[in-house]
Amino acid sequence: MNKLDIKPGIDAVGAIDWDRRLFDSLIPLPDGTSYNSFLVRGSEKTALIDTVDPALDYILIDNLDRLKVEQLDYIICNHAEQDHAGSIPVILDLYPEAKVACTPKCKGMLIDLLHLDESVFITVNDKETLSLGNRAFEFIHAPWVHWPETMVTYLREDKILFSCDFFGSHLAQSALYVQDEGQVYESAKRYFGEIMMPFRVNIQKNLEKLKDYQIEIIAPSHGPLYDKPKFILDAYKSWVYDEPGNVVLLPYVSMHGSTKDMVNYLVEALMERGVDVKQFDLTVADPGKIAIALVDSATLVLATCTVLSGAHPLAANAAFLVNALRPNLKFATIIGSFGWGSRAIEQITGMLTNLKLELIDPVYIKGNPREEDFKALDKLADSIAQKHREHGYK
Ligand code: FEO
Repeated sequence: MNKLDIKPGIDAVGAIDWDRRLFDSLIPLPDGTSYNSFLVRGSEKTALIDTVDPALDYILIDNLDRLKVEQLDYIICNHAEQDHAGSIPVILDLYPEAKVACTPKCKGMLIDLLHLDESVFITVNDKETLSLGNRAFEFIHAPWVHWPETMVTYLREDKILFSCDFFGSHLAQSALYVQDEGQVYESAKRYFGEIMMPFRVNIQKNLEKLKDYQIEIIAPSHGPLYDKPKFILDAYKSWVYDEPGNVVLLPYVSMHGSTKDMVNYLVEALMERGVDVKQFDLTVADPGKIAIALVDSATLVLATCTVLSGAHPLAANAAFLVNALRPNLKFATIIGSFGWGSRAIEQITGMLTNLKLELIDPVYIKGNPREEDFKALDKLADSIAQKHREHGYK
């Protein structure tokens, strides 16, 4: 057995990106990532499942060389995004006989994105199978995890689900399988919050679609493989089906301290009332940590000072991100302070249009907080705690 071997004839041939620290020029990757690609050899045909980010295509090529792959019949493309599909052209240069197998929608996207010729494709319908001889794939269309063209590939004889981004985590590690479930849970939850959460309803449908398959290994295209799939399937079920927790997400930015005084007071008041608070200083916060907190939070309290008569840009950025990630938030409000005038409340509330939530009266004050302002924050804490209790958030 070599270090790439998953089972005889099935090898992990992708690349570990130990040093990458940013994805999409937006998402911090504290633990790097991997672009997993898999070679599956049957008695008659050989297939590669997904490729790697073009920056590390030489690792994929080297792995295929080490395994002495002389002929490639299929490149299965589960997803057209560049970190999985971007090396298809270079692989086709090396194996010009290979056909790219993907959904009809993915074919159109690959032609648009990579300018591949129409003749290199075979398209596969939902539940269609493809034989390699003694092994066969079943392709399961899984739209919107997280692009419209996505599918997953099930290898029947070996009960392996090649899930691409679905169930993935940005985590570089040398071991093939999950070693530390706590670490992987956090990485996978970060990944879910950043990438999958906006498509929670589609993910429910796709989980439903997978429920009758016998799956012994889930092999995503980022992070470690799951040889105990229940771990990640249960985590996904809780993230997409559960009600939010008794949790307030409180991102804040303060210039001269008055907004921070309000934050400190409100956090104490919420804690006294038994509400869990996740507080983030937006001048240094990791957006991935905010995404993780959003998965479970029932209420957003966005705290912002006023700059140039509006919300601080960091608060506007946070509101934009929260709105784009479409979390399961139920309530939102704004607290903060201004010097001579502010349109922060209208600006921030106008940025949360994707979210079906109840807006709670803001506490937005002039200057440093006075006694009556702290009383208003107590009232706000009462209101949040009561709403959480009424909805049974735990
Ligand atoms: Fe890992 Fe959607 O790409």
